[in-house]
Parts: sequence; C-alpha cells; structure tokens
Amino acid sequence: MEVERVRTFVRGLDERLEGGIPKKSVVLICGTAGTMKSSLAYSVLYNNAVYSDTQGLYVTLEQDPESLLTQMHRLGMEDRAVDVVSFDEIRERVKKYRGENWIKKISGFLSEVKEERNYELLVIDSLNAMYTLTALQQVRAEIYFFFRALRELGFTAFLISEMPPGGGRYGEHGVEEFLSDGIVHLLFQRRGGILTSLERYIGVVKMRSTCHDTHYFPLLYQEGRFTIYSKEDLEL
Ligand SMILES: Nc1ncnc2c1ncn2[C@@H]1O[C@H](COP(=O)(O)OP(=O)(O)OP(=O)(O)O)[C@@H](O)[C@H]1O
Ligand SMILES: [Mg+2]
Repeated sequence: MEVERVRTFVRGLDERLEGGIPKKSVVLICGTAGTMKSSLAYSVLYNNAVYSDTQGLYVTLEQDPESLLTQMHRLGMEDRAVDVVSFDEIRERVKKYRGENWIKKISGFLSEVKEERNYELLVIDSLNAMYTLTALQQVRAEIYFFFRALRELGFTAFLISEMPPGGGRYGEHGVEEFLSDGIVHLLFQRRGGILTSLERYIGVVKMRSTCHDTHYFPLLYQEGRFTIYSKEDLEL
C-alpha cells in the first residue's frame, strides 16, 4: 500500500526516507540544548506551508513566540506562514475543560484549532514542558493515549524532546521512543584538537513504514535550508 508522506525539506534527507515522513505519524525530534531542534521543527512547518500549501501549528510552551519568530526570521524564514501559539493562550482556552485530564484538555484544544484552520502539521515544543502542566499517573498509558489522540485528530506531529548532556533516553519517561512512530536525533560532536569545535549531526533512529538510512549525517543550515551531507558529498 502506498504511504502518503510529508516532506521535511531538509536537502538530502527526504530521498533517504522514501520521500518523507508518513502522514499522521508522531515523530520525536530529540537532542541536547542548542542542537537546533526548534529551528528544524519550525522549518518543516514553514517549508510545507510555503511550498506544499500545508498548514502547520507550532505550540511553544517555553520560548515565547516573539523570540522564536525573531530567531526564525534570522534564519531567513520570514513570512508568517506558520501559526504559533503560546502556553498562555492554550491555558486560557483549556480553562473550560475543568476537571478533565490533560490529554482531554490538550486534545480538546487541538481539535478546536484543527477545525478552525485545518492544520495538518503540529509541533509541540517541548514534550518536557508539556509534562510540567500535569502530573502523570499512569505514564505509559497516558502517553500512549495522547499519541493516539494526535493520530486520530489527523496530525502529523513533531514532538520536541530535550535530552540531557551525554544523551541517554530519547524521551523523559523512557517510553516515548517505543510509543512514537519516528525518532529524529540531533547531536553535537566535538571535532579537532586544541581548537575543538562542535559540529551538528542528524540521524533517523526510527521511522515506521519506511526503509530509511541509519547513518548520522553532518547537518548545516545554508541559504535558508537545512542540508545534510553524505560521505560521498564530503569527499568531492
Ligand atoms: N545559520 C545558522 N547556522 C547554524 N546554526 C545557527 C544558525 N543560526 C543560529 N544557529 C544556532 O542555532 C542554535 C539554536 O537553535 P534552536 O533554538 O533551534 O536549538 P534548540 O535545540 O531548540 O535549543 P534549546 O535547547 O535551547 O531549545 C544556537 O546555538 C545558534 O547559534
Ligand atoms: Mg528549542
């Protein structure tokens, strides 16, 4: 059966993913601080809005929308093609779901906005921040139902997951990596001797329904787009 896909618009990556990420997947974008998780997630929504006429909603729970948009503007993503919603706005809108659990609150909010604007893509930045909104009782079951709700609402969802220095789990609770459909891992690697520098890499650790490349590739942001380089490219 043909799988419909969402392009990442990362130069070099989509062709290594059979064309992109399967629609209605829940994908973790994981990495330590500063690995460009937010920029990558935003760029997927931005490029899909501009080039594929596909609407996306970016939920920012920690970084305020102004700061996020300034950063994206600096990266050359200028027009306001992506709707950005902050924690404060969500908190206001979910008040009416008093007494419901957090999955119902956030799913309720998402289903309302989906109906209003017909969003197909969603970013939650970050999953860790979302966990602070609520105390999870039955961790695995609750996260399972949340991911299921996102798929049922029809979103292709990118959930940002912050990893501690040194790596470790892809998700804070150690279950997200099994419950998600895909994992995109961003990391820094030290290069050089005395004048050590950090280089960025990207790897697709998992992508259901996709025969994907499992190498880690150098990741650069150039001319308004993320680009990956293969060993062959670097040897040229
Ligand atoms: N053109 C560029 N090329 C490469 N890196 C850039 C460029 N512009 C900004 N950066 C770097 O991007 C990093 C921040 O990216 P971003 O906020 O997307 O990362 P993050 O992983 O979401 O960070 P955090 O952990 O703080 O949420 C900064 O360290 C900044 O120096
Ligand atoms: Mg970020």
